[in-house]
Amino acid sequence: MTSEEIRSKFLEYFKSRGHAIVPSSSLVPTDPSVLLTTAGMQQFKPYFTGELDPDKDFSSLSTASIQKCVRTDDIDEVGDSTHLTFFEMLGNFSFGGYFKKEAIAFAHEFITKELDLPISYVTIFEGSHGVPKDTESKEIWKSLGVTDIREEGIGDVFWGPTGTSGPCGPTTEIYCRNAEGVDVEIWNIVFNQFFFEGSREELISGKKPEALKPLDTPGIDTGAGFERLVTIKQGVVSPYETDIFRETFAKIEEFSQGIKPQVARIFADHFRASVFLIADGVRPSNKEAGYIVRRLIRRMLAHKVTHDIHGDIFTALFPIISQKFGMYYPEVKDPEILHVLQEESAKFELAVVTGIGELKRLSATSHQLSASQAFMISSTYGLNFELMREIAPEATRGVTQEAFEAEFKQHQEISRAGMEKKFGGHGLLLDTGELKAKDEEELKIVTRLHTATHLMQAALRKVLGDEVRQAGSDITAERTRFDFQFGRKVTADELAKVEGLVNEVVSQDLPMQYQEMSKQEAVQTGALHFFIDRYPETVKVYYAGHSLDSAFSKEFCGGPHVTHTGEIGKFRIKKESSVGTGVRRIKAVVE
Ligand code: ALA
Repeated sequence: MTSEEIRSKFLEYFKSRGHAIVPSSSLVPTDPSVLLTTAGMQQFKPYFTGELDPDKDFSSLSTASIQKCVRTDDIDEVGDSTHLTFFEMLGNFSFGGYFKKEAIAFAHEFITKELDLPISYVTIFEGSHGVPKDTESKEIWKSLGVTDIREEGIGDVFWGPTGTSGPCGPTTEIYCRNAEGVDVEIWNIVFNQFFFEGSREELISGKKPEALKPLDTPGIDTGAGFERLVTIKQGVVSPYETDIFRETFAKIEEFSQGIKPQVARIFADHFRASVFLIADGVRPSNKEAGYIVRRLIRRMLAHKVTHDIHGDIFTALFPIISQKFGMYYPEVKDPEILHVLQEESAKFELAVVTGIGELKRLSATSHQLSASQAFMISSTYGLNFELMREIAPEATRGVTQEAFEAEFKQHQEISRAGMEKKFGGHGLLLDTGELKAKDEEELKIVTRLHTATHLMQAALRKVLGDEVRQAGSDITAERTRFDFQFGRKVTADELAKVEGLVNEVVSQDLPMQYQEMSKQEAVQTGALHFFIDRYPETVKVYYAGHSLDSAFSKEFCGGPHVTHTGEIGKFRIKKESSVGTGVRRIKAVVE
């Protein structure tokens, strides 16, 4: 049976039993308390609660749909043989029409007769949180000849609520055997008998029993994962082996012979999910749904780079997805989707390439990364921690999630402190947040100190290694104060070397100049920078030297700087101290 046949069988079955067929809603829900559509019931929430009248809108008290869904809880698991982010959910719903008896009978008939699949076992709710055991469903299953009926708890067989509050209730799940002899859940029937004024976590905690109230009219919400159903029916072990993914896989293999199945699955899943999300108006960004798309695309790019997949795989895969799904979801045929994908990859491929190169280089020299190095790579190149772990398991072994998050927090505090200073404002001639000068005289001194600070960072990296990264900088006419990531005290000897190196560059009187270029080109020059996403598309790279290639120092920067290093004068380090775990501070002056 093809996946197309299963699709139409489902809709025909429920249509002929009085259900109105309702198209899938967008992956971006109207309900602002949830980020994405994760279940078929979401678009029907107001019919369960009685806010809207199903009879008026559908001329029926029951509906059926095939809903586009995205679930990202297990996004990092994608690559194994079972997980997907985007999937379709078959569902039939009743809003005060039929209830348990009919819902169970429909599911039973569809699975055992229409699909001709034997049921291994079913589950029912064992009772807790003031909700009794579901003996009624047990009796219904028995009457249909199902004998293996297992009782389970609130974590498994009680659905909802989604978002901040909503309908919820006990469920009964149906399990069928896959080709490997493993029983998998293929169908879930929710008896929406309650409304919970709070989140699912609060419901399960049992701390707000009064927030669980019976609904005026109980409803039915069912969900059957389309890909799983097709997997079982087609007698394969993975959704990636079904006809849903056949053309996609063939194309990926054509592109990269001998590609690891894990990588092929990541492409197959993430590409399809990105196309569907973009089709529903999501654009890659740093927050919410946009960040999900960005993450999906970056993970594909990281694998493209690490596995030497050449050529434009996005352009090759796009027509396959539009053809395969455009018949049901015409929005995925929009050529704009491919433009968005291409634009996003053009923006990030280089950062990803450079980031992976940096990761490999660092792990080759120091073998294992420190948490601060891991954070630096993550924030600079936009590789999230999970992805770094995936592409460099050896190098990241020593870094725990907690240590990484501690770095992140520390950085946030440093930048927050910087912001407060910046907006503390008071009639200065110059106040960039980093540099402050009250008059022309001071402006000259802070400009010299600013260039000296660039030279010092380069010198610190030469003496102490690339682990050194700017964490903050504050320059006034009195001194430069430079904070940087480094794991221990800097010795007097090392400080003398740094000072010596800076003064040597001062005596060489190198030109200090800048080139304006695109952010991508700037990254490629190896210029130092903070968070890559915070810079505009065109940036200035300031460098001390006769050419960018041979420069002693190069950094993303807005200036101002001296024109020749000789103008700096004598550079002196005054003090080195600690400002927290892994962050050091140097105060220095020019004479
Ligand atoms: N809403 C239920 C689920 O997603 C059917 O499992």
